[in-house]
Amino acid sequence: MASTYHDQFLAPTTPSGDRIATLSDADSVLPIEAHQMVRALERAFGPVFNVIDCASGQVLRPAANALPVDVFKRLAICEQIVQRGRPEVLDDISPLLLMGVPLPATASGCQLLAIATFVTQAVGSASEIVAAAHELEVDAEQTLRWAQTQTVWPAHAVQEVSAAIAEKTALQQTAVQLKRQLADISSHLLMTFEEITLLHRLTEHLSIAKSVTDLCSLSVNWLSDVIPAKSVAIWFESMGDLHEPHTLEHGAAGRALLIAQGDCPLQQREFGQFMERLGPRVPTEPVVLNRGATSSPTWFYPEVREIISVPIRDGNRLFGWLLALNHTGVGDVTNSEAEFGTVEACLMASVATILGIHCGNIALYHEQSEFFSSVVRALTSAIDAKDPYTCGHSDRVARLSVALARQLGCDTNDLNTIYLSGLLHDIGKIGIDDTVLRKPGALTPEEFEHIKTHPDLGCRILDGVKQLDKVLPVVRHHHEAWNGKGYPVGLKEEECPFLARIVAVADSIDAMSSDRPYRKGMSDEKLDGILRDGAGQQWDPKIVDAVFQVRDELRRIGQLDRKPLSLDVDNWQAELATLETAP
Ligand SMILES: [Fe+2]
Ligand SMILES: [Fe+2]
Repeated sequence: MASTYHDQFLAPTTPSGDRIATLSDADSVLPIEAHQMVRALERAFGPVFNVIDCASGQVLRPAANALPVDVFKRLAICEQIVQRGRPEVLDDISPLLLMGVPLPATASGCQLLAIATFVTQAVGSASEIVAAAHELEVDAEQTLRWAQTQTVWPAHAVQEVSAAIAEKTALQQTAVQLKRQLADISSHLLMTFEEITLLHRLTEHLSIAKSVTDLCSLSVNWLSDVIPAKSVAIWFESMGDLHEPHTLEHGAAGRALLIAQGDCPLQQREFGQFMERLGPRVPTEPVVLNRGATSSPTWFYPEVREIISVPIRDGNRLFGWLLALNHTGVGDVTNSEAEFGTVEACLMASVATILGIHCGNIALYHEQSEFFSSVVRALTSAIDAKDPYTCGHSDRVARLSVALARQLGCDTNDLNTIYLSGLLHDIGKIGIDDTVLRKPGALTPEEFEHIKTHPDLGCRILDGVKQLDKVLPVVRHHHEAWNGKGYPVGLKEEECPFLARIVAVADSIDAMSSDRPYRKGMSDEKLDGILRDGAGQQWDPKIVDAVFQVRDELRRIGQLDRKPLSLDVDNWQAELATLETAP
């Protein structure tokens, strides 16, 4: 019966007659390519091929209908056949033929050979089979029974069919491999394309005018489209020099900031401790953790199962971290099996590099602005020190000028220019003799001529400072008069720069309203009268009109604490807005 037959011939024997251990789940042992080739051989010849490991002789895949030939004696020739890589005859003892077909090796490097015995011609007499079995060292009676059930395959047919199957299978496998490689390349190209597109979009938004928070928000939104994460987030432990004064509330500079897209498993307040516990690797290199690490009992945030953490830094200066949290799963791979890998980490690192450079530039820009601001303040302090009776005059003139300029419709650039101009308008007084500058009584004509040199002196002091180019005309002409009787040039009406005409009015308002050693500051009523009388004579009438349109604001500026505004245009705009709403 077939079952008995199968049991008898399931596995080859060792020289001692013991059966060789076989592995029950052949498909899990053989590589898929080897398995496919054996299946092709079986379709052609029937289940007659044992698959052996040429190094040990161990049967990795037993055949249902194979003659139990002793393979141990033939291991050397088996190895040679595998090395030559084509089907060959191991033994030809007519009418029995032992055939070997090399198979693809296992992942661990096991050399595999499919072996089968064939009957190559019709069995004429039992003695032929018995003689051949004897020579092959297999049991003669078993061989005889086995041979009577076998299809006769001529020797040349066995070799040709085996060779054809081996070649066809190899070609099919090459095709499959190429297809897989093509799919990999396509996938890689798609990812690269998405990466380049994302980086291109990011670089288009790189400018000093672009706030860090805006660029980071764009980054997490775009990354959410290409990274299979439930949340993409950026965490800044402290905004430091990256804050945007006009978009963040007061005091935000030192605060942490979380910008997150999607279902973020951590609250803002948890991030500081979370990043700290991720360890010292975080500030230097990207960290990728999947369930292998986060399923550990020592993992401290069970709601975070997969994570990519990439530092946002410029050189050694660390600003924050870009994070992908929890895999969404892709296609058939559920999120409980999917893992973050190198591709996602590389994309995140590229984005983090651009963000780091932008943060570095913003910080540098703020530092330079701060330095510039300090220099301007040092200069205004020098003016105040020179004439302590007019202490705070420059700052008040700057604020009054801005209020008037805004009322007159000046744009942001002009507001910035006029603020600096107000601060620096009297810088030339540094070169005026102290005794003249501080003289409590009336000046002699010579002394007044000396004082009149301060606009030109101021221009010479500031000349060559690129950031102050637009300030120079205002400094030089802030003592011109609408009727042309001012100094140093005597420019008339609109010959005088508009911003200089504004500063002239602001300068006069502060001078008249401030106390002097030799007189008290004027009352509002008296000052208003002088302004009205001087409109069209001393001052541009349009600007005097503007004074009365914002009279209350000007009065508040004159009375407020002398705390200086910053020099950042957006910042002082915001500060002035605060002043406007102050009680
Ligand atoms: Fe002046
Ligand atoms: Fe002045």
